Amino acid sequence: MTASPTASTPEPRRDILVTSALPYANGPIHLGHLLEYIQTDIWVRFQKRRGQNCIYVCADDAHGTAIMLRAEREGITPEALIDRINAEHREDFAGFLVGFDNYYSTHSPENERFSSLIYQRLRDNGHIAVREITQAFDPEKQMFLADRFIKGTCPKCKSEDQYGDNCEVCGATYTPMELIDPRSAISGARPVEKGSEHYFFRLPEFTVFLRDWTRSGTLQPQVANKLAEWLDAGLQDWDISRDAPYFGFEIPGAPGKFFYVWLDAPIGYLASFENLCQRREDLDFDHFWKPGSSAEVYHFIGKDIINFHALFWPAMLHSAELRTPTAVYAHGFVTVNGKKMSKSRGTFIMARTYLDHLDPEYLRYYFAAKLTAHVDDLDLNLEDFAQRVNSDLVGKVVNIASRTAGFISKKFDGRLSTELSEPDLLARFVSAGEEIAQCYENREFSRAMRLVMELADQANLYVNDEAPWVLAKNADTLPQVQAICTNALNMFRVLMTYLAPVLPATAARAEAFLNCSLDWHERGDYLLDHGVEPFKPMMQRIDMSQIEAMLSSTRQDLPPASETPAEQPGKDTVKPAAPLADEITFDDFAKVDLRIARIVNAEHVEGADKLLRLTLDIGVAERQVFAGIKTAYRPEELQGRLTVMVANLKPRKMKFGMSEGMVLAAGPGGKDIWLLAPDDGAEPGMRVM
Ligand code: MSP
Ligand code: ZN
Repeated sequence: MTASPTASTPEPRRDILVTSALPYANGPIHLGHLLEYIQTDIWVRFQKRRGQNCIYVCADDAHGTAIMLRAEREGITPEALIDRINAEHREDFAGFLVGFDNYYSTHSPENERFSSLIYQRLRDNGHIAVREITQAFDPEKQMFLADRFIKGTCPKCKSEDQYGDNCEVCGATYTPMELIDPRSAISGARPVEKGSEHYFFRLPEFTVFLRDWTRSGTLQPQVANKLAEWLDAGLQDWDISRDAPYFGFEIPGAPGKFFYVWLDAPIGYLASFENLCQRREDLDFDHFWKPGSSAEVYHFIGKDIINFHALFWPAMLHSAELRTPTAVYAHGFVTVNGKKMSKSRGTFIMARTYLDHLDPEYLRYYFAAKLTAHVDDLDLNLEDFAQRVNSDLVGKVVNIASRTAGFISKKFDGRLSTELSEPDLLARFVSAGEEIAQCYENREFSRAMRLVMELADQANLYVNDEAPWVLAKNADTLPQVQAICTNALNMFRVLMTYLAPVLPATAARAEAFLNCSLDWHERGDYLLDHGVEPFKPMMQRIDMSQIEAMLSSTRQDLPPASETPAEQPGKDTVKPAAPLADEITFDDFAKVDLRIARIVNAEHVEGADKLLRLTLDIGVAERQVFAGIKTAYRPEELQGRLTVMVANLKPRKMKFGMSEGMVLAAGPGGKDIWLLAPDDGAEPGMRVM
């Protein structure tokens, strides 16, 4: 092993606590949520791989009216409901390789203790006010009704069945009691007005503190600007209590009053961390949370919950004499095919449904390839998703190994060369790691992915230019083959090190294949005179039919047609298969000489929009074939790959030249064409039986 010139000395180890927002315990995880957990997980894995002491905690947000009512509908206790959902959430996150150090619940003794403690500090500091307010009350259910639990006719445009705060038809805003014929959405009873005492957190007293805090580099500029508007408009007291019946923690010294779910939810970050500290000797709660701590604390959240994290939460922490977060990072919302995720469009895709059909790393990569440090929404375009994953991960990165590993195992007994014949090229791969690390650190994942794919292109070009499959035919040039493949596999190793935070499972497969760990700081210690294992396929291409199947399962979760707007049937369902051709005998079949072919060259054909000119090596001969696959493959993706061809097809003169055979592919056409690509192990010229 040789130390590279750019290997960096690790800086002092950072203590970093990271959280994602706590998902509500009243429903399943969907692909929208996953943007956040994947973004956070990539960042955390990056920090861990770089040797930082980075801890990632989360929990279910288990309190509130919605959870209480749902448990009631299901005829179970809220505790039973949140336990079941907690198990489901854990499975979904594990399925997407989200590696929490602790996943807990806000309905925990630690959280109750911290919530009381923090509340008492706020109260002792004079930051709690108590006053009576009037609210809508359901006389049948004997409970106060939040606006969204009241329905009625809009006082302005007279549309029926509108929610208690605004009309979805004309956009009017009003108070629930202004609705014509207001009804409780829970019991159907007519609500009455009733007064009760509420507890308020006196947020306006923190205006000066928050003006400063929101401008101190803790927030993205876009977010800080938005908050400046709110601060200018003036803050208001925040109502932190709810009357019984409520599923939550009772407020100390206030019987029948409960903490509003959003009061104890962020405290759940502390509780989950404390719960972990009890299990982990090396972690000290106070070290992370005392004011002035050298540890870093980051909250990753969606743009819809910024006010809770960037106003209420820092003000609470400040009053309670705890440290405030180092930064709060907000992301935008996921749209699918350019539109808001929607049940009626069949694009409200659950984590579980996705996992039933597709590999989690596809989505992790796609999100990474599109994520920036900004709050912009992110579109999951399903065609682009398949194309991007196939072309970048399978066609570029894994391709570097799959096209070179076979030579090492077959011709060199699995051993890499003792020296690197292209040290400068490799050094460039290693030094690019500094910039890639900066991109990860700054949450510019899309730029990190672009830099990695540019390197992957360089690696493939290198292999194309050196064409080891040509040199391998001649004993004199065989040693060069080992050198070329050693270079290529070392490039692959560096690139997989960079991708490991995004693709932990593929990284583990690469580690097993390369017989080494993918350590960021050791990426410049090249693998030389080193044994690698026989190559096994590391990642499959996405087939559009898997996406179709996922969408069709998503549609099956829909309520009956009468509840959803009519949709054009069949538009994006699976295309019917072509009818079967006439029967043939075995002898007919045996006449077809199918051969493994290596694509030694692929190029555009001037004037043809579907054809690529392929040069195929079938061991005993080289063939030129025009294949109608240009809509699905770029030429540079194909070079060096194996496919299957009909080798004894009578040559046919085409407009562009002779076509001496056919390559086998499947799919309906357009972008959905898949060349038959035998796994490594086949050799050009082998007969296919
Ligand atoms: N329970 C609160 C958070 C409490 S944190 C102390 C909550 N839960 S949630 O389940 O509605 O959302 C959890 C996270 O997922 C939030 O950060 C939210 O912004 C994010 N997302 C939910 N739907 C989303 C999309 N469609 N797209 C991107 N993120 C989304 O809010
Ligand atoms: Zn209206």
